Amino acid sequence: MNELSILPRPARSARLPGEFPIGPDMKIFAPETLSGPANELAEVLSACTGWTLPVHIEEGPQSPNLTRAVIFCAGEPALPAEAYSVHIEWFAARIVAGGPAGAYYAVQSLLQLLPPAVVQGVPRGDIAWAFPCAQIEDAPRFAWRGLLLDSARWFQPVDTIKSLIRQMAALKLNTFHWHLTDDQGWRLAIEKYPKLTSLGGRRKESPRGHYGHFLGGDGTPHEGYYSREDVREIVAFAAAHHVNVVPEIDMPGHAQAAVAAYPEIGCHASPLEVSTTWGVHETLFSPGEPVIRFLQDVLEEVTGLFPGPFIHLGGDEAVKTQWDANPVAQEQITTHELSGTEALQGWFMARMADFLRERGRRTLGWDENLDGGFAKGSIVMSWRSAEMGVAAAKAGFDVVMAPKEFTYFDFYQSADTSAEPLAIHGHLPLETVYAFEPVAPSLSAVEAARILGVQGQIWTDYLPTPALVEYMTFPRACALAEVAWSAPARRDYSGFLERLRPHLVRLDLAGIKYRNPWR
Ligand code: ACM
Repeated sequence: MNELSILPRPARSARLPGEFPIGPDMKIFAPETLSGPANELAEVLSACTGWTLPVHIEEGPQSPNLTRAVIFCAGEPALPAEAYSVHIEWFAARIVAGGPAGAYYAVQSLLQLLPPAVVQGVPRGDIAWAFPCAQIEDAPRFAWRGLLLDSARWFQPVDTIKSLIRQMAALKLNTFHWHLTDDQGWRLAIEKYPKLTSLGGRRKESPRGHYGHFLGGDGTPHEGYYSREDVREIVAFAAAHHVNVVPEIDMPGHAQAAVAAYPEIGCHASPLEVSTTWGVHETLFSPGEPVIRFLQDVLEEVTGLFPGPFIHLGGDEAVKTQWDANPVAQEQITTHELSGTEALQGWFMARMADFLRERGRRTLGWDENLDGGFAKGSIVMSWRSAEMGVAAAKAGFDVVMAPKEFTYFDFYQSADTSAEPLAIHGHLPLETVYAFEPVAPSLSAVEAARILGVQGQIWTDYLPTPALVEYMTFPRACALAEVAWSAPARRDYSGFLERLRPHLVRLDLAGIKYRNPWR
């Protein structure tokens, strides 16, 4: 069978004889519920052909001799929301979708059937625009298909974030995990506590060279934060691309920028500054009631800004030296009859998870949260190893697999690091990302169903520019997208590389500064 070159690989696809030419008389029909994806298709095709191709809002017309029409139909209720099928004949294309997301993914697949210049969005009269006749049936393997971007270590402009979301959507990735707070910067405007960004959003300099052989500071201040308007713009843009934004407010560690802004929320007697070095820091939020209220005030605003169902609370790398010596922490341990500082983190995170649950949100946290007992109903994001995710699933937690050995896109992409830009460490080539199997064979069917999906991590300590972010993200995010979307039986690395070639042309034309695996 002659397969189509679509990335991530669909469940089934076939090239059929003939083609469906796109002309100025082409019509697009869609029911109201699928008008978003239909409009997206109309806008892209209008932009690259120079014709105005209208969308007619009505249920798909049934006339068999209707020519030059793209017809969107809502599927049977049994079809999952993200599933779709496409049938292109010489006179019409019919799209059946489980819901708006499915129709949106149908459009992404359709656009990959056109010449790569489609991504440029400018009229190209020199191209004979046509869809190949084809049949596609498709649905994702996992519900959570994520990418994390660290905007705390280095601030990225809103347009960089939108560009990343656009590229995610083209790969049918649906979750943007936004790491907004850390020792080196607090990037989210909070109305009640403006110093979080006015002081916490600025560091006086950044480290030069690698953390392991420190060369001193660069003497250049770095600052930036996202206003409420910026966040609303990004959340709306993401929603239009069927991407859910999951904000991360890291606690009780990775807290130094916040504590520098409001020293009373830390465990320190002496003032601190926003960190100017990388690596794990000792600064923790105090676990006392006033600080719990402070952080819940922050979360109240976060829930107002981010309408999605999930909020990530971090919980990683919270070394307990400060709590071990802190009277407030020791008092909480005694009052609540906890076994020690790890259990105190469990109690502290449970307070936050309860607060979010009362507001209809589900908490995520990194796998360290298991060490002190994580609140029931929370989702574990497994990063220290894939085994941590297995243990979490066996313990009854839902899990997002983000193990560093397969999904940390800040690791080197080549064994020969001399030709690569400075990276944190590690070796994560494209092939290894592609080889990741998120569901371990040791999981029972019930446990396997707890693996919600998979996520790539773009930690930015060594990625000060958008170009470096793109270089480390692509094409590894393309491999991750296929791990997240395609069934194991449909995965094959050499076939992936063939599908990757035309995708890299699309990335070129979109101006993305990816790493070329064939250079
Ligand atoms: C992490 O890499 N600290 C989640």
